[in-house]
Formats: sequence, structure tokens, C-alpha cells
Amino acid sequence: MRLIFAGILFTSLLTWLPVSGNLLAEETVELSPKDKLVVETLLRLKSFDLDSSAPAKAAVLRYLRAKPGTDRSFELIERFKPVEIAGQLTKYSLAHPGETGGVRAAELLFAMNRGGSLSAYINSENEREAISAVELIGHAAGKQTVPLLLTVVSEGKASATVRSTAVKALGKRADGQRELLILVTRGQLADELKFAAANVLLSSTDTKVAAEAAKYLELPATADSQPLPALVELVKRKGDPATGAEVFRTTGTCIKCHKIRGEGKEVGPDLTEIGSKLSREAMYVSILDPSAAISHNFETYSILTEDGLAVSGLLISETDDAVTLRSSDGIDKTIDKDVMEIFKKQKTSLMPQDLQKLLTVDQLVDLVEYALTLQKNSG
Ligand code: HEC
Repeated sequence: MRLIFAGILFTSLLTWLPVSGNLLAEETVELSPKDKLVVETLLRLKSFDLDSSAPAKAAVLRYLRAKPGTDRSFELIERFKPVEIAGQLTKYSLAHPGETGGVRAAELLFAMNRGGSLSAYINSENEREAISAVELIGHAAGKQTVPLLLTVVSEGKASATVRSTAVKALGKRADGQRELLILVTRGQLADELKFAAANVLLSSTDTKVAAEAAKYLELPATADSQPLPALVELVKRKGDPATGAEVFRTTGTCIKCHKIRGEGKEVGPDLTEIGSKLSREAMYVSILDPSAAISHNFETYSILTEDGLAVSGLLISETDDAVTLRSSDGIDKTIDKDVMEIFKKQKTSLMPQDLQKLLTVDQLVDLVEYALTLQKNSG
């Protein structure tokens, strides 16, 4: 009896609601108490076909637009799967990639068969966005995850950073690890992804996977010929920042390319505040696998001239007539476009790929400890 009454009340309520088109294009959304009441009632009804009532649908969309990321909104989407919300849901997930809400949004997209609007961002020009899309796909439950990540890894369209993010995401799942291992044993994994793959596979809790991977992959050796421990091990260690500061200026050769508070050369980025930017793990990756984490504006370019002169370095300037590159010694070279045969962006970083060879494991740990102390406003 009460339910019938609620139903009648509900229908009369709906007739009073505006049916606004183009809801998703509006910036601010007015949410009336009636909208809230409709939403609450809808959620309590056992079954309701949202497409049968334009006003109810409009109220739901207004609600979703006004309260993105709330439990209620997720509940509504799960229940009614309104595809009109896919665009907004995609944006929401990309803006919150490392959060439960962002992952839930991604999962709902796949549940609504709208996962494509998220995976399209893998090829975004904006690398941060591409990385977020890959991370979200990695976290979202569902059958789509492993095949999608494998495509990112094998296709080679995305940058090394995005692809190594996909390797890392595959490494977090048992089925992903197995697929990754197959690529490795078939020799189908690109060289620039081997460091990332070695880290996840060699430290796998599945001892069979780890043993098989060890036949094909190894972590690079350090100065004392000790193999590098896997990242999961390294991040647990504590170092001595004072020794690290010393290593930065001497054995590590970092000072030849990086400035800290005015000291050093400016080939790579200034590291004065690097501790505020990178996590401990990201710091290790930046040092040990620079091509997997090339920072923006520091891509390497290479030029080949008609006379066979090869120059590579960072792009300092480009005019209509000439290009200036800064080499790894910090020397700028300007080349006339007339004599350029090839001018292209490299996939690898200008930062050497094998710096760990200069360092013992302890020195490396000290160096990272030091780099983490380089914080904003630390004087
Ligand atoms: C030959 C020059 C060179 C040397 C030597 C070098 N780097 Fe780099 N480094 C670069 C360049 C260029 C970049 C930017 C491109 C990239 O991210 O790979 C970079 C990037 C980095 C980054 C990431 C910066 C960011 O903003 O994300 C860190 C951290 C770093 N280097 C630390 C070190 C440390 C520590 C050493 C010494 C062990 C070192 N580098 C030695 C050239 C160098």
C-alpha cells in the first residue's frame, strides 16, 4: 500500500520537473530539492526503466553532474548505467587516477561498455593523461585489463614512459605477469622496457615466474659487480644523505648535467626541488631507467647532416633556418636546416642508461636519500 502511494506521488513529482537537454554541456548545474527526492526515490524502487521517463532521466543526469564522485552518484550509475554520463565519468576518473573514486569510475565505464572513452586517452598527446589512463585500466577490475595493457606494451605507439607504466601494471597481477613473461621468452619485449619487466618479474611472489624470467632478464650490475636489488627492495632501504650529496658531486657524475642551487651544469633539469616532485620509487626509476621517465621538455633530438655529422642533444631552440641542440657535455651546437638530412626525436633520454655501473648499491641508496631531501623551500 505504501509503495503504491509512493509510486503515485513519484509520478506527480516527475511532471513538475524540467527536462533540460544538453545537460552535460552546462558548467554549473542547479540541483533542486525535487531532484534529490527523485533520486532517493528511484534508488528505493525495485525496478525502474530510466528511459521510460524523460523527467526522471533529466533529474538523474542533473544529480550526476552536480555531485560527481559521490557514493550516491556511483550507485545511480551502477543502477541505471546512463551512457550520457560516460564523457563526464571519463574526465572524473582521469582527474583522480590514484584514488578509489577514480578507479570506480573507470570500472563503471567498462561495465557500461564505454571503456573505449577511457582507453582512447592512452594515445593522448598529454603524457600525464596517457599515464593516468594506463594506471586506471590497470587498477580497474574486469577481463579487459590484461589485453588492453598488452596492446600498449607491444604496439610501440605510446612513449616508453607510458609503455613501462603498462608493464608495471601488468606486473601487479598474476595473469599479467604470465603474459609479460611470454613476451619476454619469445623475445618480443622491447629493450627499453626490460628494466621495468625485470623489476616486476624477478621479484614475483610466484617463484616459477621469477625463475623463468631470470633466464632472460637481469637487473643491471652495480660498481661492485653486485646485481641491483629490485625496486621493491631498494625503496625499503634508508641511506645517508650527506654521503649521497658527496656522490652526486663526484663518483655519480650527476653534477656534470644537473644544477642544485646554482651549482652544476644545465644539461638536464635543475634538481633543486626534485624531492618535492618525485617519490622514492620514481627517483630510483629516474636514475636507473631514465628513458622510462623522460621529463617533459627534455626529449633528446638527433640530427644527421649531409656530410654525415651526427649530433644529438636537447632542443634548445629552433628558428626557420637553424636548430640548436645541447649535447651531453653541455655544449650547444647550431646546425643549418639546409644541410640537415635527418632531424628527429629520440626515444631514449640523454641521461646515460647505465649510471648504476659507477655506483655501489649503498652509494645509490645514499644518493636517492639525498635527492629526497631536496625539497621546495628547504633553503
Ligand atoms: C649526461 C647528462 C646526465 C647525467 C650525467 C645525469 N643526468 Fe639526470 N638527467 C639528464 C637529462 C637530460 C634528464 C632529463 C630527461 C630525462 O628525464 O631522462 C635527466 C633527468 C633526471 C631526473 C628526473 C628529473 C625530473 O625532473 O623528473 C633525475 C632525478 C636525475 N636526472 C638524476 C640524476 C642523478 C642522481 C645523476 C647521477 C647519478 C644523473 N641524473 C646524471 C641528464 C643527465
